[in-house]
Amino acid sequence: MRLVMLGSPGSGKGTQAAVLARELSVAHISTGEIFRQNIKDRTELGMKVKQYTETGELVPDSIVIAIVADRLGRDDCRTAGFILDGFPRTVPQAAALDEWLEKEEMPLSRVLELRVERDILMRRLTGRRHCAICRIDYNIVFKPPRTEGRCDKCGGALVLRADDSEESIARRLDVDAAKTRPLHQYYEEKNLLTTVDGSKEVTAITVEILEKLGRSVASASAAGRAN
Ligand code: AP5
Repeated sequence: MRLVMLGSPGSGKGTQAAVLARELSVAHISTGEIFRQNIKDRTELGMKVKQYTETGELVPDSIVIAIVADRLGRDDCRTAGFILDGFPRTVPQAAALDEWLEKEEMPLSRVLELRVERDILMRRLTGRRHCAICRIDYNIVFKPPRTEGRCDKCGGALVLRADDSEESIARRLDVDAAKTRPLHQYYEEKNLLTTVDGSKEVTAITVEILEKLGRSVASASAAGRAN
C-alpha cells in the first residue's frame, strides 16, 4: 500500500496517518515531523528550515524532494509500503514524486484527502498542545489532559507547537489555499483521489478510510484502541 495523505493544516493528517500506518503496517513519513526533529537536534537541515516552518512558509521544494526521495528509497518503504503525510504540498513536488515512483516502479495506490472547514481547523490548531518532555499530543478542546496544562503520563508542562501561533496558523492556511489546493485537481485527473469528511470523530474517519481502501472494518476496533 503506497498512500499520500492530503489536507489543510489541522485537518488531521498526522493523527490519521499514524493510525493507518499501524493498521496497514506501512512506514509513516511526515515531512513536518522530520523538520521538527532536525530543528530540535539543531542539525544543519534543522537550521536551514527553522525560519520557514515557524513562520508558516513552505520549505523550498528542492530541500523537501531530496529528503523524501532518500526516505522512500529505504527498504521498509520498498517492501511494506508507506503513507506520506504532508508531502507533496506543491505541484512541482507532486511531479517530482511521480517521476521518482515511476522510475522505481512503485506506483501510488491512493491519495486520501481530508476535508475540514476553516473554522474547525482554527479551533483544532489553536487548541493543540504537546508535552514538553514526552511529546504526547493533547488538544485543550478535543482531547484535554486530566489536569489542565499537565501531561497525563509524565506530568510535564503542555506547550504550543512553534508554528501554532495565530499569525503562523493564518499564514499556513493561506499558503495551503494557494499552493496545496491545486493538488486536488492534480490527483483527481489521475483518478487517484479519495475525499473523506475530516470533521467527524477520529475513529469514524479511520473506519471510513479503511472502508474506502477496501480493508476490513473489523480493524476499526484496533484503530479505536490506538487512539
Ligand atoms: P506539518 O507538520 O505537515 O504541519 P501542517 O500541514 O500545518 O499540519 P498539522 O500538523 O498542523 O496538522 P495535521 O493535518 O497533521 O493535523 P493533526 O493530526 O496534527 O508541516 C509543518 C511545516 O513544515 C509546514 O508549515 C512547512 O513549513 C513545513 N513542511 C512540511 N512539509 C512540507 C512540504 N512538503 N513542503 C514544504 N514545506 C513543508 O491534528 C491537529 C489537531 O486537531 C490536533 O490537536 C489533533 O489532536 C486534533 N484532531 C485531529 N483530528 C481530529 C478530529 N477528527 N476531531 C477532533 N480533533 C482532531
